[in-house]
Formats: sequence, C-alpha cells, structure tokens
Amino acid sequence: MRDFVETEPRVRIEVRLDEEDRRSALHDETFWGLRAEPKELSPVWLYDERGSRLFERITRLPEYYPTRSERKILGRCAAEVAARTGAATLIELGSGTSEKTRLLLDALQAAGTLGCFVPLDASEDVLLRSARTVAERYPALRVHAIVGDFERHLGALPEGRRRLVAFLGSTIGNLHPERRGRFLAALAAVLGPGDALLLGVDLVKDPGVIEAAYNDPGGVTEEFVRNALTALNRDLHADFAQRRFAYQACWDPAREWVDIALRALEGHAVRVEELEADVVFAAGERLRIEVSAKFRRESLERELAAAGMRLEEWWTDADGSFALLLARVGRGRALD
Ligand code: SAH
Ligand code: AVI
Repeated sequence: MRDFVETEPRVRIEVRLDEEDRRSALHDETFWGLRAEPKELSPVWLYDERGSRLFERITRLPEYYPTRSERKILGRCAAEVAARTGAATLIELGSGTSEKTRLLLDALQAAGTLGCFVPLDASEDVLLRSARTVAERYPALRVHAIVGDFERHLGALPEGRRRLVAFLGSTIGNLHPERRGRFLAALAAVLGPGDALLLGVDLVKDPGVIEAAYNDPGGVTEEFVRNALTALNRDLHADFAQRRFAYQACWDPAREWVDIALRALEGHAVRVEELEADVVFAAGERLRIEVSAKFRRESLERELAAAGMRLEEWWTDADGSFALLLARVGRGRALD
C-alpha cells in the first residue's frame, strides 16, 4: 500500500492498488483469462485514463439510457434515501466521475447528517479528478478517496456508524454471477446494522433497446471496448492488432446479459510479452471483454438474501427501465 498523500487539507488519498498490485492480481487474472474458454479479460482493462473519458462520452449517448434513467430516479428518491439512512459517511464503489452522486450529496447535506465522502475506484486518474471536484463543491465535507478494487479492498473502508454504500450505474452487472455473489457476501460482512446499501441496477427489457445501448452508430462504445486491447499492448507489451478483430455486443437471452467481445476475423497468434504467452485465436473466436447483466427484482432479492441482506426499498423510473434499491444486512423481507 502506498502512503497516504495529502493533496489538500480535506482530500485524503489512499492507494491500495498500486503498480505492483496491478502486476500481481490483474496480470494473474489476465494470464488465466486468456487461457479460459471462452477467452476473457477483466473489465478493469477498460478504465485507463482514455477509457474513463470514453465511458463519460458513452453516458451522454442517446442510445445509452442507464445513466439518464438512474439520474432521474436519484432525483426523485435522494431525499428519501437521506431521511431513511441519516448517513454520516457516503461511500461510493466504482465511483468514476461521481457526477450523479451529487444528487445524493446534496440531499444528505440538506439533511445535515453528512460529514465524509469516500469514493473508491480502480482508476486513479478519474478518482483524483472527481475527489477534487467534490471537495471544491462541498467545502464542509471531508473527502477520503481510495484507489482500490471493490472486489478486494472492502476491508479498507473507513469504519463508522450510519454509513451509506452507493454502488451505482449497474456496475454490479459487470461481475459474473458467482463473483457477484461473493462480492455481495463480502459487502454484507462489512456492513453494520446502521449501515445501508444503495444499489443501481439495469433491468431486463426489450432486447432491441438493450443492444442499441451497446452498439451506438458513432462507434463510441466500440472505441471504449477496443481500448482494452490498446491498454494491454501498452501495459503488457502485447501485439494485439485491432484490424484483426471485429466488435460484437449481443444480448444473451439465457444469461440475461450483454456479451461484449472482440471477434477474431482470422486465425492468428498474439504475443503477450509481459505474461510470456503466445495466445492463439481461431478464425471467428471471441475474446470477451465484458458482460453487462440485466436484472429482475425477484432474483435480485434472492441474491441479496443469499448474501445476508434484505431489500428495504425499490424505486424505478416510469417505464421500469432501471432500478435503485436500498438494502441492509439482516434476514427476512422488509418490503412487500
Ligand atoms: N459509478 C459511475 C461509473 C461507472 S463506470 C456511474 O454510475 O456512471 C465503472 C467504474 O467502476 C469505473 O470508474 C471503473 O474504473 C470502476 N471499476 C471497475 N471495476 C472496478 C473494480 N474491480 N474495483 C474498483 N473500481 C472498478
Ligand atoms: C460500467 N458499466 C455498468 C457499463 C455497462 O453498461 O455495463 C460499461 C459499459 N460497457 C459498454 N458500455 C458501457
């Protein structure tokens, strides 16, 4: 772990995920992912500085409804979330720009309970930018940013009573179901009885609408996904050639996720120097870059229960496109 750095009096930055750590954990996962069937990368490769900026462009695309839908719901429910949780600390996992989060910060400040904001993200660039912006906009707030991995560093979250953990944008859908289960259980283990989880999830809907969100005609999403190869070439000294792959994002009705991949146009081998590996692609073979699962309320309630959490409140937009839910540790149904 790198030492704490004080950039400004109210911004504290804790680096849990440094270069050495990336080498061991992420490189290990990549080594095995490139040998898996199907071949698959960690979505963390998507979010270097360029990738984070491309994602910001995605959130403004007319086809990419999740950000807009979630913002609408947050606008309606933030005051109720503040009243229900009385949160003194707002923790945000996979915080990115924390742009929508301002609606929550405003509501919690208006309620007079909030003292500290803790954004956690694996992408140092976007995290530092957003932590400074929040500190400037909210002079009464302490900001404790954590460069970390939400699958591995939940133990690093600051302790306290009445903590609200926000996990927005349906980023939970980028975890495979088994990892999602482990993540939710690990989160439940660090939440106390006075804490709450605010989770944003994209819902199952017309596959045409979902597929359009990942196939924008301007190709911003394709550029974002292809950037994972650029990052691998740079960080692992690989020689992926973009022209040898085609972008493909399809709805999988059995898994209820969007399967986002680059498909090899011809048989060829790629050298990944840092992993001392030659990776052979058959013509037509897919390299999965990301999955984006979509959710249904009943199965999500079961997943929360299996992790030791219960649903307390559920908000959706007018067309039932996206949902925000409040959950707490404990058994049983809190909501009918
Ligand atoms: N919450 C924001 C950003 C979503 S993009 C929104 O709703 O718009 C997903 C964010 O999660 C990115 O900023 C990415 O860097 C971060 N991320 C992805 N995997 C992560 C991981 N394992 N640990 C920490 N952050 C992660
Ligand atoms: C961050 N995550 C929830 C986005 C999603 O929709 O799964 C990532 C993304 N990938 C392509 N477009 C957006």
